[in-house]
Amino acid sequence: MSQFTSNLDVLIRARYPILYIQTHEEGRLNNTLHGIAKKLEKKVFEWSVTQGFTQTYPPRSRDHSKPPRSRDPLDALNQVSDQIEPAIFVLQDFHPFLSSDQHSIIRKLKEIARFLKNSYRTVIIVSPIVELPTELEKDVTVIEFPLPGREEINQLLIEIAKKLENNEGISLQLDSDSREFLVEAALGLTLQEAENVFAKIIVKNRQLVANDVESIIAEKQQLVRKSGLLEFYPATESIDTIGGLGSLKEWLEQRSLALSQKAKTFGLRPPKGVLLLGVQGCGKSLCAKAVAHEWKLPLLRFDVGRMFGSYIGASEANIRKAIELAESIAPVILWIDEIEKAFSGLSDSGGSDSGTTARVLATFLTWLSEKNSPVFVVATANSISKLPPELLRKGRLDEIFFVDLPSETDLSEIIKIHLRKRGRDPKEFQIEQLSRLAKDFSGAEIEEAINSALYEAFHTQSALETKHIENAIAQTVPLAQTMDDQIKQLRSWAHGRARMAAKRINT
Ligand SMILES: Nc1ncnc2c1ncn2[C@@H]1O[C@H](COP(=O)(O)OP(=O)(O)OP(=O)(O)O)[C@@H](O)[C@H]1O
Ligand SMILES: [Mg+2]
Repeated sequence: MSQFTSNLDVLIRARYPILYIQTHEEGRLNNTLHGIAKKLEKKVFEWSVTQGFTQTYPPRSRDHSKPPRSRDPLDALNQVSDQIEPAIFVLQDFHPFLSSDQHSIIRKLKEIARFLKNSYRTVIIVSPIVELPTELEKDVTVIEFPLPGREEINQLLIEIAKKLENNEGISLQLDSDSREFLVEAALGLTLQEAENVFAKIIVKNRQLVANDVESIIAEKQQLVRKSGLLEFYPATESIDTIGGLGSLKEWLEQRSLALSQKAKTFGLRPPKGVLLLGVQGCGKSLCAKAVAHEWKLPLLRFDVGRMFGSYIGASEANIRKAIELAESIAPVILWIDEIEKAFSGLSDSGGSDSGTTARVLATFLTWLSEKNSPVFVVATANSISKLPPELLRKGRLDEIFFVDLPSETDLSEIIKIHLRKRGRDPKEFQIEQLSRLAKDFSGAEIEEAINSALYEAFHTQSALETKHIENAIAQTVPLAQTMDDQIKQLRSWAHGRARMAAKRINT
């Protein structure tokens, strides 16, 4: 029995007269209620404004002598008082009748609350939103119906597979690992939403495989779009599109299943996350996207700038909301890009900031250190000067990686990747020569050089050749030259404090 079911069971047996359950999932809730009714030997009557009352448990055939249907809400409540058998009365969408000008309904509910305390009857109001007039606050107990957990979604998949067993042309041969991927991806959806998305994939592809995780994730975008603080990022970049950064890639690969249920059962604590610190344009953001793709998890980008609302205090509420939302979708990658921007107010606070940044930071850090949920944080930063030392302390995040400018060998790898991305065969280019010329270029800069080379070739109506890229490289002044001091500073800070992301150290 789930936590929710047992709580509800206790409340009903303790004769709480009126419960208010917030959910969009009427069908799933009804199944739960029927289970409880069966155990407690009660009937279940469901009311809606279109149907009036119908007995839904134990199910009765339609032609049975019908009970009065009472589509009128006040009549319906009168019927509740008149009924003597042990029963649960489920009122669907009753919230519009609870506005504070509905005097008779409010009064009637207060009477019912008093009256039902000594009976075996329970009224349950079901609605997607909680709207209660002050008068009823003490008489009604509000509970939230949690979204389906792993077990329920797994069960759904088993049922779908069973239904389609004899259906030729459809393959649902899921091993337990692929099933786990699918189940995890569907967490955060209602059961109906999960069923719909599975059905959609099966109709389209005639199969359901671990790779369908992406379609499931797309379905979750709606949830997040409404929040404003978090944004779903389609994680399309695979780890093969990253050149160099070998140690970081290995570290990430090692943890690819760390957020799974299997890892949890094995006794692994879910990893908290990484901080990628380093030079601009060297692949930090790219890595965040690739992690999500490799781990087959949704990627949520947290907009730190938007978090600081215009009211004092609003931002603490904001960060709490973002954390809650992320946890509801977990397992998930929470990408906090340019985290230093969030905390830049700290050093010169005191003025307009009045400590808000500090409180937001405290909320965030407390969450990080106590966090047990499978939310993997990937934070990126370009400078350490603005980062609070608390964030850099071990234990908050699992590791700090320093992402330096690529070495010559890594640069060749990056050049090859970007040539291939543009449909060119790297063998036709003098890669070594190019990477030597592009000394001190970042990944972003070499990519840009290849882009402008393409423009030039296109303009002169010739095929792309090494010389075009050479020209483009010669015309670029890498940031490393103008920002030499900053980069040196960053390097010396990182030395001994952070792990090198690249295997081949730049000299
Ligand atoms: N190591 C790399 N391998 C392949 N491509 C790279 C690499 N580094 C950078 N690039 C290219 O440059 C683009 C920009 O890189 P990215 O946004 O990841 O840099 P960043 O480190 O996050 O920079 P910033 O600090 O400016 O945010 C990437 O989308 C990618 O195309
Ligand atoms: Mg970036």
